[in-house]
Amino acid sequence: MGKRIGIIGSGVVGQTLAKGFVKHGYDVMIATNHAEKRDELSARTDGKAAVGSFEEAAKFGDVVVLATKGVAAEAALKAAGIANLTDKTVIDTTNPIAEAPPVNGVLQYFTSQNDSLMERLQKLAPEARFVKAFSCIGNALMVNPDFNGVRPTMFICGNHEGAKHDVTAILDQFGFDVADMGAVEGARAIEPLCILWCIPGFLTHGWAHAFKLLKQ
Ligand SMILES: NC(=O)c1ccc[n+]([C@@H]2O[C@H](COP(=O)([O-])OP(=O)(O)OC[C@H]3O[C@@H](n4cnc5c(N)ncnc54)[C@H](OP(=O)(O)O)[C@@H]3O)[C@@H](O)[C@H]2O)c1
Repeated sequence: MGKRIGIIGSGVVGQTLAKGFVKHGYDVMIATNHAEKRDELSARTDGKAAVGSFEEAAKFGDVVVLATKGVAAEAALKAAGIANLTDKTVIDTTNPIAEAPPVNGVLQYFTSQNDSLMERLQKLAPEARFVKAFSCIGNALMVNPDFNGVRPTMFICGNHEGAKHDVTAILDQFGFDVADMGAVEGARAIEPLCILWCIPGFLTHGWAHAFKLLKQ
């Protein structure tokens, strides 16, 4: 795995992971498709990450992180250039959150139970090696979170074993145990974990938790 990370997405997740990858010694480019946001984005990543367009970040990264709004994920991949993702590991942080408010703290999704956003992305970019990760924890807890020495579990899935191996190594650096939920269809179960994770936040303002898979 190379040390160049291209991040498609300028929101809090993109910014947090950019700083996390810089902290762990990677060369990082974070991307916005709004040129007027570039200076602010550079400042928000402490001037330590290069800033580019979605296309430039996709070309730059040995590993690419997708961190856009779920409804915009397919458009973002097209803007990045599908060919630029060929044979690359793409860490998919996105969730298919609909443009509708939560119902009693329960987010609404635009996908159904027998579908997932990552399956749609994998179909759109069949030569990219998507791995779902970072989707079921808040951005404030994505980089070496402190749970009194307990490592939270990050659920991942994807079709390419080598890509999952690379992402597992990254997640280990970022302080997580990894639970591999199989091929791309595993995203049907992982993406809804975001709904569960957010309920305490919406109902009681509690956002400082993470999932842990216990095994015997
Ligand atoms: N926030 C969290 O704590 C958290 C935790 C886990 C997972 N996630 C998931 O991570 C993803 C990123 O979340 P976020 O909160 O960082 O940011 P966000 O507000 O969901 O997304 C911001 C990014 O989406 C892009 N975008 C928005 N509309 C677009 C469009 N029509 N076409 C192309 N790109 C568009 C923006 O592009 P520009 O840069 O060009 O403006 C920006 O890069 C989401 O899918 C979210 O569900 C979030």
